[in-house]
Amino acid sequence: MKVYVTRVIPEIGIQMMKDAGLTVSQWTEKRNMTPEELVARCKENDALLSAGSNDINDKFLHECAHLKVISLYSVGYDRVDVAEATRLKIPVGNTPDVLSAATADVAFLLMLAVSRKAFFLHKKILSNEWGFYDPTNNLGIELQGCTLGIWGLGKIGTEMARRCVGAYKMKVIYCNRHNNLEAEKELNAVKVSFDELLQQSDVLSIHTALTDETKGKFDKNVYGKMKNNSIFINTARGAIHNEDDLVDALRSGSIWGAGLDVTNPEPMHPDNPLLNMPNVAVLPHIGSATRQARDGMAVIAAKNVIAGLQGKPLPHLVNTDVYQQ
Ligand code: DGY
Repeated sequence: MKVYVTRVIPEIGIQMMKDAGLTVSQWTEKRNMTPEELVARCKENDALLSAGSNDINDKFLHECAHLKVISLYSVGYDRVDVAEATRLKIPVGNTPDVLSAATADVAFLLMLAVSRKAFFLHKKILSNEWGFYDPTNNLGIELQGCTLGIWGLGKIGTEMARRCVGAYKMKVIYCNRHNNLEAEKELNAVKVSFDELLQQSDVLSIHTALTDETKGKFDKNVYGKMKNNSIFINTARGAIHNEDDLVDALRSGSIWGAGLDVTNPEPMHPDNPLLNMPNVAVLPHIGSATRQARDGMAVIAAKNVIAGLQGKPLPHLVNTDVYQQ
């Protein structure tokens, strides 16, 4: 059996698949595969391990309906037409849990960096503008006792909340479809409506999946309902926020600051005004970029491939209906 891997991923996962008797080939060029290249490679293989920004859409799935498993090297599966994969009886796997702590660390890092204008001031030093000590300049805001609002309180959001409660005794409110009883018990998190989340959060951190419902949700209207001194953090998906509206909200003082690990588009254009705003910190989608998380993702992605090719249920399955037809 043969598996195609669309990026160079940590060797631990490649070795597991080889040890399971699979023939593994990998895309090693430092550019995205074109859709045609992806289809051509998949046609020669039985399984796909997809890392990066390949669209696993309806067209791809119909051309590669022979695939026995699609294993994503990510927790997010917004690039996959899951309903179509299910119809075609292709199990789709993802890599939850192992990246939750690493991603929450980045959300926390961005919150802190924004609150003290850290990225902007670092850039000032690089351009020889250390500046004259002015007690009224470069002022940030303190986070002690602030209210953290989480949109999408799952595993990553809970890790972010733990950090904020532990470090700053922040009060946690969240907006989810369902109650997160564990977080309510452990962190005294309180479920609120979306509008209450906007109105009460001093730091509003997004940890929800990108879906038709969440796409573009943070727009002019939404920023307009947030507190003027609030910090907006997005480590989930860039398409959840409207970037032009975010620039306007920051310029007009509708909100105070923003920290983004995800942008729309990625990569962000180097001329984007967000990159030069004092109260903004931007990172190049590094949420899961620790050795531990990336190794963990490689192990889970490999386990999903091996199980799929052995005709067994995937240990981390996205389309749970796939075996019920
Ligand atoms: C994920 O796992 O979804 C990360 O955001 C990487 O895409």
